[in-house]
Amino acid sequence: MFRMTSSRNQNKSGRTHDVFSLVAEIDKVKEREGAENVADAMLGVIRRDDGSFATIPTYEEVYRSLPARELCDYATIAGLPEFQAAAVQSAFCGNIPAGAKTEVVATPGGSGAVYAAILNYVEFGEEYLGPEWYWGPYATLGLEQDKKYVTYKMFDDNYEKFNFEAFKAKTLEMFEKQDSLLTIFNFPANNPSGYNLSVEEWTKITDLYREICKNPDKKVIVVWDWAYTDYAGTKEETRAFLHCFDNMPENMLLLCAYSMSKSFLIYGMRSGALIAVSTSDDVIEDFAGNVCFTSRSTWSNGSRGAQRALGIIYQNPELLAKVEAERMELRDMLINRGKIFMKEAKEIGLICLPHAAGFFITVPCKECSQAFRLLMKEEVYLLTAGEAGIRVAISSCPTKMVYGLAAKIKKCIDDNGFTQEI
Ligand SMILES: Cc1ncc(COP(=O)(O)O)c(C=O)c1O
Repeated sequence: MFRMTSSRNQNKSGRTHDVFSLVAEIDKVKEREGAENVADAMLGVIRRDDGSFATIPTYEEVYRSLPARELCDYATIAGLPEFQAAAVQSAFCGNIPAGAKTEVVATPGGSGAVYAAILNYVEFGEEYLGPEWYWGPYATLGLEQDKKYVTYKMFDDNYEKFNFEAFKAKTLEMFEKQDSLLTIFNFPANNPSGYNLSVEEWTKITDLYREICKNPDKKVIVVWDWAYTDYAGTKEETRAFLHCFDNMPENMLLLCAYSMSKSFLIYGMRSGALIAVSTSDDVIEDFAGNVCFTSRSTWSNGSRGAQRALGIIYQNPELLAKVEAERMELRDMLINRGKIFMKEAKEIGLICLPHAAGFFITVPCKECSQAFRLLMKEEVYLLTAGEAGIRVAISSCPTKMVYGLAAKIKKCIDDNGFTQEI
């Protein structure tokens, strides 16, 4: 093949990852059969039980009421001040770790936040860490920067619990090779499993980090990918773990990859932030300067309208209460769909990753790519989770179509002699 791309940029094959292009095909099936009758569990968006695209109505109303300038003008590089305050409130709900300060730089969604974190906190040619079940961009965002995502075994052999021992062993191994280590945690309501890390599990993780940080040459960077947090439980339940970060040493940094995509259901508006949490004034100042530089030299600035609407909502308790109530209704709908799927899966012996909440459930299956294609022929729309799982986006599948979905997947696995042993 004749190429004009620079040598470093060949063979990236981004088109094969474009699941969004399948949507048009599925839409045709929905037109024919009615959206509420199609088992579309492909994308991480919320659809209501009639198959319609869900928004948070109050957020939508505030956004639509904005004048042209607020929708179309530039924001500031670090984000509008009231957006910065609202982002911290929305992410932490008052649970900022003791002794820490925060700093916010707006980004285009959580993707931009993870990109900026890897860019500024991983050395060229070095590695950063995350679980073996992960959201694909964790690896590609780093590949774009010549940095490598490496993994640890996420669950025990029975798919019941987080595999702390595997995490610990990999972390210690990496600290033998490099002095700083960035690790990504997408909890609670993990994509693709729906697992919530407990406070006990977080305590073990942060105790290990505190031990490592006794060596002043070592640097621990924790990226908390916040995206699905609001769908996992109450504000208190989902943020309790943040106190494991109380009084962090200065060589331990918490970076929250904040995203408005899921919590406010504005995926396409590309709004989020990277929020630094540190006990060190130097670390905070260094963060702000560097991450603003990244913004200016990549996407320039965030989407003003999305930021302004968030600011307005967080300055008005009544609006905020409405937004939270509207989201809670959707959260409960997703938790119910998850329970239906997991109950049926258990009854028929379909193995799944441990799931508590969120948009996704994952079924381990070695032949997941084949299963994905075969199920698509039967008008069951799912995606693969990496190379060894079938990902079911219960977020987008009407509840009545969740019933029986586990059985269809199990039948496909059994009929074709596929294996769930990974
Ligand atoms: C694990 C994870 N993190 C973050 C995001 C948010 O991405 P963004 O805010 O860029 O839309 C997503 C969205 O799919 C995700 O699945």
